[in-house]
Amino acid sequence: MTEQQDTLLRVSGLKTHFRTEQGTIRAVDGIDFEIKRGETFGIVGESGCGKSVTAYSIMQLIERPQGDIVSGSIEYMGEGARPIDIAALDPNGPDMRNLRGNEIGMIFQEPMTSLNPIYTIGNQIIEAIVLHQRVSKMEARKRAIELLDRVGLSDPRSQIDDYPHQLSGGMRQRVMIAMALSCNPRLLIADEPTTALDVTVEAQILDLMRDLQQDFGMSIMLITHNLGVVAENCDRVMVMYLGKVIEEGSAVDIFYNPRHPYTHGLLESIPQIGLSSRLTPIEGAVPMMQDIPTGCTFAPRCPHVMAICEDDPPMLFPSDSERTKCWLYSEEALPQHAK
Ligand SMILES: Nc1ncnc2c1ncn2[C@@H]1O[C@H](COP(=O)(O)OP(=O)(O)OP(=O)(O)O)[C@@H](O)[C@H]1O
Ligand SMILES: [Mg+2]
Repeated sequence: MTEQQDTLLRVSGLKTHFRTEQGTIRAVDGIDFEIKRGETFGIVGESGCGKSVTAYSIMQLIERPQGDIVSGSIEYMGEGARPIDIAALDPNGPDMRNLRGNEIGMIFQEPMTSLNPIYTIGNQIIEAIVLHQRVSKMEARKRAIELLDRVGLSDPRSQIDDYPHQLSGGMRQRVMIAMALSCNPRLLIADEPTTALDVTVEAQILDLMRDLQQDFGMSIMLITHNLGVVAENCDRVMVMYLGKVIEEGSAVDIFYNPRHPYTHGLLESIPQIGLSSRLTPIEGAVPMMQDIPTGCTFAPRCPHVMAICEDDPPMLFPSDSERTKCWLYSEEALPQHAK
């Protein structure tokens, strides 16, 4: 298999900005990553770092006109076809609608904003199926029941006629997964699919997604703020801070051998069962998007800050299997710039 065939999605130099009265918000500011076929790729970072905007950019669901993809490409390699640059497609055009309905499914961060309270869950799944696949309503209903069964609803034949408010949070999340899977996607984007759920239900939903990935053979882009979830579920991961990638590597390496001081901070803020020690939050607050430091964006909060960090932005320095955007990992920078 060539490298080109193996890659399903390649994002290069992506910038998605919003114009607001307070100035330009560089929500995503020049990120590069690839998702391979069949893998689970994690995106992790604190609130506001640009995870959802990355997902919305891939789906071309950025709120316009205040938001826009201002540069970069999002190449999607569907079956046999030449790559399609999603960033260049009309968000409302037929090609983008086709990708959203037949190739890329998304589980949104807020289930209640994407499930319509006035329609039954069955109606909503059936509508999605009929819209994108040439099947009758009867066929679509049969397929919806199969999907609801597959995602673990106990009585899908009757629950298909329930309204969203009749279901628990965990059940609604399962319905969201069924909706996202109704198009048999090659790529499933899951934006914090378990944040609103308690730990037991979270584990069940993540197990379910792993099983479905094996059955459907899809790639998953899993967005979370929890590095523990990444370690258990992802193959590779990128860590975002203020719209940029600050570290990337295999999930195992990032979890067991994190290099960037920010990633260390994220790890120390994960609760661990059985450990009574207090969580250590990362010091300081994320700067306002309009007020980003000129050197390393993490410098004002970094316990290892050096003089160079305040002046020059670091690049992604490679090591064996990770790449880390931190001057601590640049051999030339260290000796002469240490404070
Ligand atoms: N429609 C919008 N208009 C203006 N700014 C926006 C808009 N959508 C997102 N942003 C800004 O872009 C930045 C990134 O937001 P995003 O939703 O991607 O964060 P996130 O990493 O998903 O955070 P969370 O973990 O809280 O979901 C934030 O500063 C946010 O305020
Ligand atoms: Mg988000």
